Amino acid sequence: DKVISVGLMGLGTVGRGVYRILKDNSAGIEQKVGARVEIKKILVREPAKNRGIDLREDMLTANVGDIVENPEIDLVVEVMGGINPAFEYSMMALKKGKSLVTANKDMIALHGKELFEAADENNADVLFEASVAGGIPIIRPLKECLAANRIRQVIGIINGTTNYMLTRMTKESLDFEQVLKEAQALGYAEADPSADVEGYDAARKLAILSSIAFNTRVPLNKVFVEGITGITAEDIIYANELNYVIKLLGIAKETDEGIEVRVHPALLPKHHPLASVNDVYNAIFIRGDAVGDVMFYGRGAGEMPTASAVVADVMNAARNLLRNVPGIISCTCFEEKPVKPMGSTSTK
Ligand code: NDP
Ligand code: HSE
Repeated sequence: DKVISVGLMGLGTVGRGVYRILKDNSAGIEQKVGARVEIKKILVREPAKNRGIDLREDMLTANVGDIVENPEIDLVVEVMGGINPAFEYSMMALKKGKSLVTANKDMIALHGKELFEAADENNADVLFEASVAGGIPIIRPLKECLAANRIRQVIGIINGTTNYMLTRMTKESLDFEQVLKEAQALGYAEADPSADVEGYDAARKLAILSSIAFNTRVPLNKVFVEGITGITAEDIIYANELNYVIKLLGIAKETDEGIEVRVHPALLPKHHPLASVNDVYNAIFIRGDAVGDVMFYGRGAGEMPTASAVVADVMNAARNLLRNVPGIISCTCFEEKPVKPMGSTSTK
């Protein structure tokens, strides 16, 4: 019996979902991969905390060495969040030749280059489908299925928390703090929710998407960012009276002065296709020179949708391991391109 052993770093909202899918769908996953995919060890801060799920007693550890130094672990899933120690631990795993699956957009947007290079040098894969738009397949479709196109523009609602908040504020006239608390309770928000409401989470995702779309490296500090903290109930009411909705958009397009990348609230006419994307749903609209317009839609955050993307990446990495071709999914052939200066940016 073939087994692929996984080291899971993080057992919060997303980690629990990954654990559940690998357990509940194990038979189908085994059939599609050609081996059983089993979690061997799970890294957490507090192994003694009651997690409300059925875990083997020796599974939890607070020692990263139990995962990255463990010869029995074939691949590592990072769903801890934040930059460090997530980046440090991920590099440790890659340097040991273990493929990495991550949902961490902060880490990919800031340190993607180092991670991809370490993966190339050590014949490992780095897969990050869940880092943008939760459960929506977007990284692989953009990188692979749309590869033949010259991409003209990418426009999307790419933060579930703020879209949920704006929807609730519009439909139920609820206030900002109340709806933010709801989004946090539902597991949509980042550990520091200012990353959502101030637009930085969307900026990180846009840096990742635009880097892939335009085959370059869009630095995070070149993305213009404005969040939704300045949006008031009155703004929403007036927009509604004029037949508009307010949405936080990420926009990336080619211009004569370079690639334009910006995140900010925008007024959308109610008939616009993105205007009816509500609650935790995200949507990404892509225009390619050959394909024309395509749109991707689905749940942009939350335990199971995000874990769906993480586990699919695990299955891909597992298949590559079984075929003895880890590292085949290279992310390092980028071209330097100018990014248009846009004023207010931040790397927070
Ligand atoms: P949570 O805060 O719910 O969970 C984080 C987990 O990581 C916890 O189990 C925590 O341990 C563990 N952890 C954190 N820091 C350390 C550390 N220093 N050492 C050991 N363990 C640590 O985060 P989420 O599950 O919401 O998010 C995880 C990642 O997925 C983030 O990068 C996030 O941006 C991304 N993501 C999240 C989505 C969502 O909808 N929530 C959607 C898409 C991506 P302990 O339990 O002991 O505290
Ligand atoms: N906090 C993020 C969001 C999680 O609300 O979109 C998904 O990346």
